[in-house]
Amino acid sequence: MPLSKATVSVEDRGYTFGDGVYEVVRVYRGVPFLLREHLERFARSAEAIGLPLSPPPARWIRWVTQAVTASRYDESKIYFSYTRGAAPREHTFPAAPKPTCVITVRPVTPPSHDPHLGVRVVTVPDLRWGRCDIKSLNLLPNVLAKQEAKRRGAFEAILVRSGVGVTEGASSNLFVVLSDGTVRTPPVGPAILTGVTRQAVIAVARREGLEVAEAPVDLETIERAAELFLTGTLTEIAPIIRWDDRTVHGGRPGPVTRRLMTSFHDWIETQVSRDASTATSSGSRDARRARR
Ligand code: PDD
Repeated sequence: MPLSKATVSVEDRGYTFGDGVYEVVRVYRGVPFLLREHLERFARSAEAIGLPLSPPPARWIRWVTQAVTASRYDESKIYFSYTRGAAPREHTFPAAPKPTCVITVRPVTPPSHDPHLGVRVVTVPDLRWGRCDIKSLNLLPNVLAKQEAKRRGAFEAILVRSGVGVTEGASSNLFVVLSDGTVRTPPVGPAILTGVTRQAVIAVARREGLEVAEAPVDLETIERAAELFLTGTLTEIAPIIRWDDRTVHGGRPGPVTRRLMTSFHDWIETQVSRDASTATSSGSRDARRARR
């Protein structure tokens, strides 16, 4: 249905408490990219808030496929959320929750920045909770951080947590290229979201023969870094060319970042072509079956 026709109860716990989880998936040429990985994280997040995913992932795959087909957009972003449903407002769980499932598909408009030119970031304190590995609907600290970045003319806010170091961006993961060419990114754990793009970029970098360490990153490491970049479903790989008031790599994307951007895009292309041809051949198989 058109977005303007879709409604959710004002008593939905996603609305009153942020009591739910979500995912964002990029669609390239009609193919939802890394959908299985996103659904695995979705199920993990739901489980972690005591709201096991029901309907199961296979049903979500069917819904997502239907929604993408109905949208007729080639390039789009799918947002899906799963909340503990509508119930009179009480903090404790309703006895028999009826979860609300929402899937929206929106066209992807070209980014306002040219990704090849690089982006500017600013640091802000990480004010989030102790389970940032859960992709929860509670995004107020991220919203405030991102707004602060916008106010300061930056693309992303980098979150710095005392005693932990630099964790991630408000809606992206952070990578550092050290002067010896090693790539480093903060480790998986409760302080960051395990980005699906992060995992894919680590795999691409290792296939490229780069050494990747998942290790804490402090501000001193950032100062010594040769290159810095962000990853995310909608961000893909974005080179950082300015960090607060410091210019990174002479204000231009560095060679390791550019190499990874190329190999990441080649890899997306290969995966999408493979999945598109599988969908076409199973589609024509279904059509043949239907004719019989
Ligand atoms: N954000 N860290 C945070 C806090 C995020 O919100 C995101 C994604 C990422 C990157 O994860 P992935 O590679 O799986 O997209 C890291 C989504 C895109 C959003 O909220 O819009």
